Amino acid sequence: MSNQKDTAAAEVARLDSAGAAHEFTVKDGTVGPSVIDISSLYAKTGQFTYDPGFTSTASCESKITYIDGDEGILLYRGYPIGQLAEKSSFLETAFLLLNGELPSKPEFEEFEHAITHHTMVHEQLHDFFSGFRRDAHPMAIMCGVVGALSAFYHDSTDVNDPHQRLVAGRRLIAKMPTIAAMAFKYSLGQPFIYPNNDLDYTANFLNMCFSVPASNDAVSPTLARAMDKIFILHADHEQNASTSTVRLASSSGANPFACIAAGIACLWGPAHGGANEAALNMLSEIGDVSRIPEYVKKAKDKNDPFRLMGFGHRVYKNYDPRARVMQETCHEVLAELGIKGDPLLDVAMELERIALSDEYFIEKKLYPNIDFYSGITLKAMGFPTTMFTALFALARTVGWVAQWHEMIEDPSQRIGRPRQLYTGYDHRDYVGLDKR
Ligand code: SDX
Repeated sequence: MSNQKDTAAAEVARLDSAGAAHEFTVKDGTVGPSVIDISSLYAKTGQFTYDPGFTSTASCESKITYIDGDEGILLYRGYPIGQLAEKSSFLETAFLLLNGELPSKPEFEEFEHAITHHTMVHEQLHDFFSGFRRDAHPMAIMCGVVGALSAFYHDSTDVNDPHQRLVAGRRLIAKMPTIAAMAFKYSLGQPFIYPNNDLDYTANFLNMCFSVPASNDAVSPTLARAMDKIFILHADHEQNASTSTVRLASSSGANPFACIAAGIACLWGPAHGGANEAALNMLSEIGDVSRIPEYVKKAKDKNDPFRLMGFGHRVYKNYDPRARVMQETCHEVLAELGIKGDPLLDVAMELERIALSDEYFIEKKLYPNIDFYSGITLKAMGFPTTMFTALFALARTVGWVAQWHEMIEDPSQRIGRPRQLYTGYDHRDYVGLDKR
C-alpha cells in the first residue's frame, strides 16, 4: 500500500491485492495520525483487514480526547490534563467532556443543580444490596446495580430521544458516587449515608463513604480536592477497552444503563482499570525494596506471566501524564494525613527508579501509568484495594457517557460487527455415533 497526495484530489492510499489496484481515501484529523478509510475494502477486494487488539485501527471519529503516546500528551477537548487537574473541578471537566466547551457560570450552575438533584437512587435499589455477601467485590455489585438501573428508569431508556439521552447520562453521572459509596458501606456493615445536597459532588461522595450516623465529621477540603483531581485524571481516555465496550454495546441500541454496566465489567480486568488494585497488591507482595530485583526479574521473564502492574500502556510509550499528577497528589494526601513514610510508597518510588533505568523497560518503553500511584493514594485515604476500580468506574462514567452521546449522534455509526479470519474446518458431513 502506498500513500500519494494527488494535487487535485484528497490523499489516497493504494493497495495492490486480489489481482487489482485499489484506492482508499486518507482522512486527516486535527492532530495525530491520519486514517485510511477502508470501509469499502471488502466490497472491492473480498478481503478483510486483520488487526487483533485493534492496535492499528480507528473505530470512530471523535472530538473528545486526544492522546499522543510518544509525547505523553493527554487533552480533554483540547485542554491539557495537567491544567484541568490543577485549575478545574471534576464536575466542570464533566461538562467540558459532555458538551465540548468549558461552561459559563449559568451553564455550570444549571448542570451542577441537575446532577446534585439526581444523586439519590430509588429506595428499592437498597434491597439489591442485601442479596450480596458482605465480602462481595464492589465491582461485582457495581455491575449488578448499575445494570439494574434500567429496571427503574424506563423514562430514560429510549436512546433515540435526545431528552431521554440527556436525562439518562445525568442520572448515571449523578448516581455512580451514591452506588459506589453504598457498595463500600455494605462491605463495612455500616448503614448507607444519603447524599447531602449542601456538599459539592466529590465532598458529597466522601461524606457518603466515611460519615456515620453517630458522628458527622466534616470532609477534609484537602482530601476532597485530591479526590476531585483523581476523578479528573480518570474521566476519559479515548477509545480504551471499556469505552470501546460501551460504544459497541450501545451500537445495538441497548439502553445506556446496560451499556455502562458492560463498560464497568470490562474496566474490572487487571490489564485495564483493575490494575490499580493489582498494583497495590503487587507492592504489598514485594513488601520491601530489597525484594524489588526479584520481581523485576520475574517481569522480564517471558516464561513468567507476572507483569509489573501499573507499568506499561497500549498507547503511552512515554510517561503517562496522569501518573505525574497522581504522584504529586499522592504526596499531598500523605502530607495532609501526616503519614511520614509509607513503606509501599518507598517500594513504589524505588521500583520506578529501578525500572526506568533497566534496559528491558527502556527498550519496551514501559513507564508507570495512572494506576501505579493511585492505589497508594486511595489506600492512604482509607479505601480498601477492592474499592479502587469502583472509584475508577465512578470517574470514567463521565467519559463513557460523553463517548456514548457522540456515538449515538454520529450519522456514520452503525451496529458494530467485526469479521474474522476463519481457520476452522471447511464443510464436512455429520457422522452418527455408531460410526465414530
Ligand atoms: C489502563 O487503554 C487505556 O487507555 C487504558 C487506561 C485508561 O485510562 O482507560 O489508560 C487505563 O488500563 C492503564 C493500563 C493498566 N494496566 C496495567 O498497569 C497492567 C500492566 N500492564 C500490562 O498488562 C500492559 O502494559 C498493558 C496491558 C497495559 C499493555 O499491553 P500491551 O499493549 O500488550 O503492551 P505492549 O504491546 O506495549 O508490550 C510491549 C512489550 C511486550 O513484550 P514483547 O511481547 O514485546 O516481548 O512489553 C511487555 C509485553 O509483554 N510488557 C510488560 C509489561 N507491559 C508490557 N512486561 C512487564 N511488565 C509490564 N507491565
